[in-house]
Amino acid sequence: MRTPFVAGNWKMNKTIEGARGLVRELLPGLMPVAGVEKVLCPPFTSLMTISDLLKGSDIGLGAQDMHWKEAGAYTGEVSPEMVKECCRYVIIGHSERRAYFGETDEHVNLKVKAALAVGLTPIVCVGETLEENESGRTREVVEHQVAQGLAGLTALDVARLVIAYEPVWAIGTGRAATGEVANQVVAAHIRTPLVNLANEEVAGVVRVLYGGSVTGANATEFFSQPEIDGALVGGASLKPVDFIQIVTAAAA
Ligand code: 13P
Repeated sequence: MRTPFVAGNWKMNKTIEGARGLVRELLPGLMPVAGVEKVLCPPFTSLMTISDLLKGSDIGLGAQDMHWKEAGAYTGEVSPEMVKECCRYVIIGHSERRAYFGETDEHVNLKVKAALAVGLTPIVCVGETLEENESGRTREVVEHQVAQGLAGLTALDVARLVIAYEPVWAIGTGRAATGEVANQVVAAHIRTPLVNLANEEVAGVVRVLYGGSVTGANATEFFSQPEIDGALVGGASLKPVDFIQIVTAAAA
């Protein structure tokens, strides 16, 4: 049995004051939902404030990225140890980082290893672009991202990951994948390769999420799929009613 997992990726939204307001609206609806691992990923600037607000709750906190080096002359970057000061999770390899900030599978691999080394749970994102999808390259792209991103990990390391399948064409477009298609990609191109990277037992315990235009209205379509264990939510994670509905659907 894999515990359902729902994370809200706020991306570059909310000032500290705005983040505080959103958490206050979310807490009463999220707190009573049991049996789901719930995670909020606000921008770096709000992490400490939100960390205080979440104390005593069962809601976890995650960063949206981090650098892989321990410390040093890396202007603008945040180290694994800094993230670990207030977070249990970190999103790694989001398609927006890959597309706009030149993040490669090699960077993803370094970050995953660095996150595990300090005891963070990486939420590793993979997914194909529209062009790759339309040219029939989904399998090749997703399997490559999984293999390269997780290269050199032990089976025990792999067991500690959360993986998110986020087809780029579905992110922020309102055009979500169907539950069936997402389930198929997760089964064939993520979970099956995990058997080779680790082993069957590990492949069976890793939580794999779907992300891309998940809403309160369509969440159940994904959560009812056997290989999908939750969601990485962007836009709808900024809307309290929707996000609470998604988390509640994951518990059902
Ligand atoms: P949307 O839910 O806004 O499509 O974003 C998904 C996403 O990128 C989460 O990481």
